[in-house]
Amino acid sequence: MNDRITLTLNGSELTGRAGQSIGSVLTEQGVRSWRTTRNGGRPRGLFCGIGVCFDCLITVDGRPNQRACLVTAEDGMVLSTEGLPRG
Ligand code: FES
Repeated sequence: MNDRITLTLNGSELTGRAGQSIGSVLTEQGVRSWRTTRNGGRPRGLFCGIGVCFDCLITVDGRPNQRACLVTAEDGMVLSTEGLPRG
């Protein structure tokens, strides 16, 4: 069974496995941060990993402020950091 899925992040292709969270796919692909804090521009990505801290916000298929640690990655998803705080 082929459980590989393909997503894009700002137009770049990422691969993952069915059932992973978006945060898991990003981290596994070497993407450790995808936004920065408004004050100080500190990098943010996964922190709590369980939907508590909101550090992992990302835009998914045009829906802003989705928590990457809670959203299950699906084949063809379009991830974007546009509009997120970036330093
Ligand atoms: S990592 Fe904390 S809410 Fe997603």
